[in-house]
Amino acid sequence: MRRLVIAVDGPAAAGKGTLAKALAARLALPYLDTGLLYRAVARRMINAGLDPAGDASKEATALLQEDLARTDLRVPEVDRGASLVAAQPAVRHALLERQRVFAAQTGAVVDGRDIGTVVFPDADVKFFITASPQARALRRHRQTQGEKVLDGEALAVAVAEITERDARDSSRETAPLLEAPDAIRIETDTLSAAEVLEKACKIISERCSVA
Ligand code: DC
Repeated sequence: MRRLVIAVDGPAAAGKGTLAKALAARLALPYLDTGLLYRAVARRMINAGLDPAGDASKEATALLQEDLARTDLRVPEVDRGASLVAAQPAVRHALLERQRVFAAQTGAVVDGRDIGTVVFPDADVKFFITASPQARALRRHRQTQGEKVLDGEALAVAVAEITERDARDSSRETAPLLEAPDAIRIETDTLSAAEVLEKACKIISERCSVA
């Protein structure tokens, strides 16, 4: 039997990871967070004293499983560095097969930016998860700072950072952040994580007779 592959794409902090993890648990499938691959490459560059805007293909080819388990992959310098290494065609090429192999035997829920368009164009179901830049900046702030209040100025900075990263991810030539024509879009501004999950499960069960 062919194993299910579910693609979950969308911009930063739209709720992709939360949905993809919950879907993987519900469907008993492995979860692959492809952003971690780019983050780990950026971390290798930074730790070697290299600018992540420079050629990162060696670091991408040499990436080890333990690089993905590091605890310092979700910090601002790596947010920015990951977006810079992700714009490099040689880096994307080096990571492509790895992503495909991960899902080949078992199926998977895979979250990223180019999963439904490039990595798994034949995915069984493709979601495009999105929300306004304000909602996403607030969410990212809560993930990193907890309930600490964000004043107007800090919110404006956070929105500007997230917008800059999205612009770079969307405008690069190789595998940009793009909504696949056959993706199902879910806007998460006014939905709870549980509501997004229920919506997604309903769609999967209609299309794949599971969930
Ligand atoms: O999802 P994330 O914030 O952890 O992703 C980190 C960076 O990697 C982000 O700038 C987008 C990029 N990325 C990508 O280009 N392609 C993917 N499949 C996943 C992430």
